[in-house]
Amino acid sequence: MTLPTSELATALPPCDLTVVGGTGDLALRKLLPALYQSERRGSLAPGTRIVGASRSPLDDEGYRAVVRDALGVHVPAAELDDRAVARLLDRVHHVEVDAESPEGWHLLHALLKEGPRGAEPSERVRVFYLAVAPRIFGPICQQLEAIGVVEPTSRVVLEKPLGTDLASARLVNDAVGRVFAESQIFRIDHYLGKESVQNLLVTRFANTFLEPLWNSRWIDHVQITAAETLGVGDRGGYYDHAGALRDMVQNHLLQLLCLVAMEPPTYVGRETVRDEKLKVLQALRPMTPEDVDRDTVRGAYGQGVVDGEVVASYAEDLGHPSRTETFAALRVEVQNWRWAGVPFYLRTGKRMDRRASEIVVVFKAPPHAMFPGSEGATEPNRLHIRVQPDEGMHLHLTVKEPGPGGIRLRPVSLDLSYATAFDAVSPDAYERLLLDVIKGNPTLFMRRDEVEAAWAWVEPILRRWETSPRRPKRYPAGTNGPTAAATLLERDGRTWQEDDQ
Ligand code: BG6
Repeated sequence: MTLPTSELATALPPCDLTVVGGTGDLALRKLLPALYQSERRGSLAPGTRIVGASRSPLDDEGYRAVVRDALGVHVPAAELDDRAVARLLDRVHHVEVDAESPEGWHLLHALLKEGPRGAEPSERVRVFYLAVAPRIFGPICQQLEAIGVVEPTSRVVLEKPLGTDLASARLVNDAVGRVFAESQIFRIDHYLGKESVQNLLVTRFANTFLEPLWNSRWIDHVQITAAETLGVGDRGGYYDHAGALRDMVQNHLLQLLCLVAMEPPTYVGRETVRDEKLKVLQALRPMTPEDVDRDTVRGAYGQGVVDGEVVASYAEDLGHPSRTETFAALRVEVQNWRWAGVPFYLRTGKRMDRRASEIVVVFKAPPHAMFPGSEGATEPNRLHIRVQPDEGMHLHLTVKEPGPGGIRLRPVSLDLSYATAFDAVSPDAYERLLLDVIKGNPTLFMRRDEVEAAWAWVEPILRRWETSPRRPKRYPAGTNGPTAAATLLERDGRTWQEDDQ
């Protein structure tokens, strides 16, 4: 498990963090704001440098101006502190490299060979964050090796999507693996850096009352939702080749499922959690083409209204017709002793009616109705884990409504809101994960075997969708997806939990 930031601050070694793709969307929107927040909290060790590597013809000052502008846009105004910005910019450098040719790499070598100021060579940590398309991960790693900057203490961070199917993921892993050992490779899934996702492990394993109930005897089913109100925006070029299954299900949703379904490890350590997650991925029931037709739904958003504004359809956002899904819902089973017969319903979509990522564990109804003649509904108990926004947990119970004149049953919710309970803002997932990379803690990163097991399970769905005459079902933007997604549960006598009230 990650350490609190204050402990990290003292424990972090000086580091040269090179962001390849330093002027790209991910770097400017997520990575540099996350590094700024680390700077503001005092988490970065003295001597740490941040090197943007990109094809842009920028010198250090030019890149600093780009970074300053990006912070102005992507960091909330109330959190912008001029002195922290100045300190961060002082660490920032830029080198012009062409990821696909040997051009410019000697400049990176010249910069890195100096090492972070104040660090002994033996303490030097080099992190290479590849915020570029995965097809050039391999060539970049070769360039890094060729210029002699890969050392045993070096680390490489790979952004998703890692490939587009199992074969391409293996190629990427092989190419990176020729230069970096598996222990040096950090495959990021930013959902694992979210506070409430980590809290899921603590809630399950640091309390006694849940674990005895956490199985098919007491749990009816589990729902995992990652709904967004945003459309594809200007990411259509990437997204139209990916779709919701590759973009969200293969990684984020399956990772959440793993944390819900995994067995308790002996202790929470570098490999133990990943070992247990892998077992869950390997236990997912493989889907035949008939299963795919029956147990999956894909959709694409049409025009609609989101947050009071009329928005365009997916095809209009792209500027051309498409068969790519912007919504996916699946009924999944984990074939092991603990979960036999318990469906996991997953869904994710763009341009939905709300932004919410959540896990709902729905328990079975009490085995015996003890209150004959009582008024009011008994509802199954539910544990609602809200990943975002408004991180928290809600446990839904049935209680007696106070008052005389018989027993009236009433569903109530025990609420834990992080914002109210803890007087601290959770760090952004990227901030936490970047500090883990610098520290060399891989617990919250995906191991090669996990990524490949996830692709192996997803692939039959991809293949069936590619060849199926059915097109994604259209849903109006601003709704909760195609009606077929509701039918997926109704068929089993269940419904999606649309809010946590
Ligand atoms: C990314 C996907 O991994 O996650 C995006 O590529 C998606 O399409 C994003 O919008 C969602 O992340 P979050 O943290 O906003 O839920």
